[in-house]
Amino acid sequence: MIQSKVIQGSLKNFEVKENQLIIAGKKLTDWATGYGTPFYLYDHSIIRKKISLFRQCMPPEIKLFYAAKANPSIKLLKGMVGLVDGFDAASAGEIKAIITSGGNPETVSFAGPGKTIDELSYAVQVGIGSINIESERELELIAEVAKRQNKIPKISIRINPDFELHGSGVKMGGGAKQFGIDAERIPGLLGKISNFPVKFQGFHIYTGSQNLSADSITDVMEQSLKLCLQLAGEASESIRMLNLGGGFGIPYFNKDEELDISAIGSRLASLIQIYKPKFPNAVFVIELGRYLVGESGIYVTKILYKKKSRGKTFLITDGGMNHHLAASGNFGQVLRKNFPIIMGTNVSGSECEQVDVVGPLCTPLDLLGSKIDLPKSREGDLIVFMNSGAYGYSASPLLFLGHEPPREIFVQS
Ligand SMILES: Cc1ncc(COP(=O)(O)O)c(C=O)c1O
Repeated sequence: MIQSKVIQGSLKNFEVKENQLIIAGKKLTDWATGYGTPFYLYDHSIIRKKISLFRQCMPPEIKLFYAAKANPSIKLLKGMVGLVDGFDAASAGEIKAIITSGGNPETVSFAGPGKTIDELSYAVQVGIGSINIESERELELIAEVAKRQNKIPKISIRINPDFELHGSGVKMGGGAKQFGIDAERIPGLLGKISNFPVKFQGFHIYTGSQNLSADSITDVMEQSLKLCLQLAGEASESIRMLNLGGGFGIPYFNKDEELDISAIGSRLASLIQIYKPKFPNAVFVIELGRYLVGESGIYVTKILYKKKSRGKTFLITDGGMNHHLAASGNFGQVLRKNFPIIMGTNVSGSECEQVDVVGPLCTPLDLLGSKIDLPKSREGDLIVFMNSGAYGYSASPLLFLGHEPPREIFVQS
C-alpha cells in the first residue's frame, strides 16, 4: 500500500517486521496481549534523538526547556531530567511533577495567565527560577506572597507583542490576548518594578504553537529579540533570561512538511552573534513540548466491531476521543483532519478499503478517522495513531462517559 508522506515520516522511528509494528524489539501484538488495549506507548529513545538533533542544530548559547504541558507523565519527565536545561510549567501541579521527577525548581519557568495565590505561594516557596508574570496584578500578588515568606522571588515579564507567529496551529501573541502584558505597557511596569520585592530576570515571549515554517519561527524570534532590546533599555537591571518561546511543530496531516530545524539553527546562530553582546548576562531559552515528545508516542486501539451502514464501513475501536481528543479533531482544529493512522497488525497490507474509524462513545464527536484507506481488517486487529506523544492522555476528557482510562507504557528501544 502506498502510504502518505506524513505516515511514512511518522513510521521513520519505528521498525516494521512482517507487516507488524515492532517497538523496543517486541511485536505490537505482544504489547497488546501483555498490557491489554487501549494503551499509549512512548519510546524514550525517540525523545533522546529529537533532543540531540536540536542540540546539533542550535548554537550552544541556546538552552532547551521542556514544556511539561505536552506530556506531564512522571516517567516521561524523569527521562527528561539531565537531557534538557530546564522546564516550562503551566501550573503548580506541573511544578510538583517536575520536582517529583528530580527536576531542579531553579531551572523551571512558570507561565500561565491565571496563577492562583496558592500556586504563586508554592512557586515562591520552592524557589522557581522564573515566574513569568502575565499581568500587573500578578506582580502585586507575588509581592504579597514574597513579603509573607520573606523571600525575593525571581520573575520575568511575559510580553504580548504586537506581532504574531504566522502559520501557527495555535496563536498566542499579537492583538488582544489573555497571555502576557501588552508590549506598550511594559516600559511603565519596568519603571515600577524596583518598588517590589522581586528579582527581575528578563522577558518571555510565546507567540504560538505547531508551526512548520522555519522562516516564520525565526522571523518572530528576530522580532522578539529586537523588542526585548528596546524594552531592556527601560529596565534598571541587566537582562538574565530571554525566553524566545518556540512553537516548533511536527507533521500530522497530509501536506504537512517536516520543520527544517537546521535552517532555524543557522539563522539563530547569526542572531545570537548580534544579540549576545547586547545581552552579555542573558541565558537564551527555547521551550518546546510537542517537537520533543510528539513523535515518541503511539496510541493503540483494538477493533471491537466492523460494521456496515448504508454502504459505509465503520471500524469501532475500544478507545476514542475520551483517550485521544486531538485525534478526533476536537483539540483546537478548525477543520477536522485525520491523524496519521495505520493498521498496526498489517502495516503495509496491499488490499485496502475505505473506512471510518470511530471510538466506542455514544456521540458522533467520537470520529477518529474519516474516509481513510486502510488495509482490510477484522475484529481484534490493532489500529495505531502515530505522533501521539504530545497532548494525548493528559489533554483528553478521560472521565467522559465513564470508560476506563488507557494504560501508559514507557520503553527504551
Ligand atoms: C507558554 C507555552 N510554552 C510552551 C508551549 C508548548 O507548545 P508546544 O508543545 O507546541 O511546543 C505552550 C503551548 O501552548 C505554551 O503556551
